[in-house]
Amino acid sequence: MSEKREHFSSRLGFILAAAGSAVGIGNLVGFPVSATKNGGGAFLLVYALFVIFICLPVMMAEMAMGRKAQKDPLGSYKLLAGNDPKWNFAGFLAVLTPFMIAVFYMVITVWIFGYLSQTALGNLDALAQPDNFGTFINSYTVFGYMAVVAIIVNLILVGGVKEGIEKAAKFMMPALFVLLTALVVYVLTLDNAMAGVKYYIVPDFSKMDASVLNGALAQAFFSLSLGMGILMTYASYISKKDDIVGSAKMVAVTDSLVAFIAGLMVLPAIFSFNPNTDPSTLSDSSVSMIFVYLPKILLALQADIGYFGASVVAFVFFLLVFFAAITSLVSIVEVPTATLSDRKGISRKKALAILTLSTGVLTVLCTMSFGMVESLTSFVNYGGADKSLFDIVYDVFYDTILPLNGLMVCLFVMYRWKKANLSEELSQGCEGYIGSFTEKYVNFSLSTFIPAILLLIFVNTVATKFFAFSIFGF
Ligand code: PHE
Repeated sequence: MSEKREHFSSRLGFILAAAGSAVGIGNLVGFPVSATKNGGGAFLLVYALFVIFICLPVMMAEMAMGRKAQKDPLGSYKLLAGNDPKWNFAGFLAVLTPFMIAVFYMVITVWIFGYLSQTALGNLDALAQPDNFGTFINSYTVFGYMAVVAIIVNLILVGGVKEGIEKAAKFMMPALFVLLTALVVYVLTLDNAMAGVKYYIVPDFSKMDASVLNGALAQAFFSLSLGMGILMTYASYISKKDDIVGSAKMVAVTDSLVAFIAGLMVLPAIFSFNPNTDPSTLSDSSVSMIFVYLPKILLALQADIGYFGASVVAFVFFLLVFFAAITSLVSIVEVPTATLSDRKGISRKKALAILTLSTGVLTVLCTMSFGMVESLTSFVNYGGADKSLFDIVYDVFYDTILPLNGLMVCLFVMYRWKKANLSEELSQGCEGYIGSFTEKYVNFSLSTFIPAILLLIFVNTVATKFFAFSIFGF
C-alpha cells in the first residue's frame, strides 16, 4: 500500500502545507493581543524560547512517526508499536482530537466567511454595530455560509495531496503573506501607530507569572498544530529524501514570523483608533476581538480613507484570516479523512462524504449552542459554570487533550519506538544529524522535561477546568 501513497510534489509543497496548517486564526489576532497584554517583548521572547526548545522537538517527533510509518496517525501508532494494543488509545485520540477540533474550527471559519461576505457586500457599517455578532451567530444565514465553507474544504480535499492540499497552500500562503504585508504597511502610516508597536515590543518582565507562561506554551503548541495528528499525517506524504529537521524549523519560523508580523498590523490599528487604550482591558478571546472589536476599528478608518476605502481594508483583513483558517481547516479534516480511507480501504471521496456528514451534524449542533437551542446552550455544568456544547468541545479537546496527545507522542517515541529509531528516521535526508547537538537535545528533552511539563499542564488543566481547583496556582 505504501508505494501507492500519494506524496507532496516537493519539500516546499510539504513546508507550505504544514505552515498553512500552523498559520491560523490564532496567529493573526490571538497571538498579538496576548503578547501585548502579557509583557510585550518579554512574552515574545518566552514564546520564541518555547517554540525552539519545547515545540520543535515534539514537531520533529510527530513528523518522524508519520514519515516512517507512511500511514495515518492510528496506523502509525499501530505499526510503530508493533501492534501492541496498549498504544491503540493514543492512536485513537490522535484521530478523535482533530475530528472534534475540526468541528470547533469550522464554526469559527464559517463566521469569518460570513463577515468576509458581508464586507464584500458593503455592509461594514452593520458589522461594526455592537449587537451584530450576537444576532449574526444566531441567525439562520449561518447555515448558508456553513454550506459554502464545507464545499470549499471538500473541493480542496477531494483533489488529494498534490492537486488539493498542496495547490491550495501554494496559492493561499503567498497570498496571505502579500495581504498581510500590505495591511502592515498601511496600518503603520496611521496616527499613533507607534504607540501600539511600543506596547507590543517593549518588554515588561513584571507581567511574567506561571499563568502567562502556561498560556504562552499552550498558544505555541496550538499554533504549531501539535498534538492533532496533522503533522504526522502530512509527513506520511513525504519521501525519505526530505529533511524533516530542516522542514520543521522552516514551519516553526514561518508560523512564528506570521504571528509576529500580525502584531504589527493589529496593535497599531487598535492604538490609532484609541491612543489611550489600556492593553490590559483588551479581550483575551480572539473571537470577540475579530468579530466585535476590530470591525469597529475598521469602520473608523473611514474618517481617513472613506467608507469604500475602509471596506476594502476590512475585506483584505477578513480574506487574510479566511485563507489562514481554510488551510488549517483542510489540514485538520485531512487527518480523519486519511485515517478512514487508509483503515477501511475506501476512496477519499467516500471518506470525505462520511466526514462531511458527521462533522456537519456536530457543527450544526455547536452552531445552535450559542442561544438558538437552550438545551445545547446550557448543556452541562462543570467547573462552576454552565457550558454550551461548543464550550465542551473547546474545553475538552483544545484545552485538555492537546497537551495529553503531545505527552503521548513524547512517551511513545522515546520509550516504545525508542531513541535510536527516532534518530535514524530524522537522519534520513538530514546528513550529520546523528551525533549533532540537535540530536542530543531532541533525545534528552523528549525523554525528560518536555513530557514532564506537558503532564503538569494536563493535570492542572483538568483540575482548573473541570473541578475549579488550581493545583499550581495558575
Ligand atoms: N495553528 C492553527 C491556528 O493557529 C490551529 C489549528 C490548526 C487549528 C489546524 C485547527 C486546525 O489557528
